[in-house]
Amino acid sequence: MQIDSPQADAVDSSIHSEVLKGNQFRVKEVPPGSALLVGDAAVFNVAGSFCATQAKCTHKQGPLNEGKFDGSTVMCPWHGSQFNVCTGAVLQGPAVDPLKTYRVIVEGEIGRVEAV
Ligand code: FES
Repeated sequence: MQIDSPQADAVDSSIHSEVLKGNQFRVKEVPPGSALLVGDAAVFNVAGSFCATQAKCTHKQGPLNEGKFDGSTVMCPWHGSQFNVCTGAVLQGPAVDPLKTYRVIVEGEIGRVEAV
């Protein structure tokens, strides 16, 4: 699993991704303030901690991993609903229903989204 070769960093990341399962991600691919689609979930790095929600907005399925993300708030790129990505709560409509949230486990360089 661990690659110690100094050349490892030069290897195309698509090769790395082959060893990841569908619910896993590389921690360094999600720096603070960014989001990544992992399976059906959106993983958000909130100032160094990870929170994960369902990737699709509860309004009309907009892609939340592509939304503007600030602090712990993501804004859906389609109609502007805002959610807290750690609790799933709706902060601003038009969405009414909260997001499902998932636990994120980090082991070394690999993170994993756990269904709750
Ligand atoms: S789909 Fe997200 S606000 Fe409409």
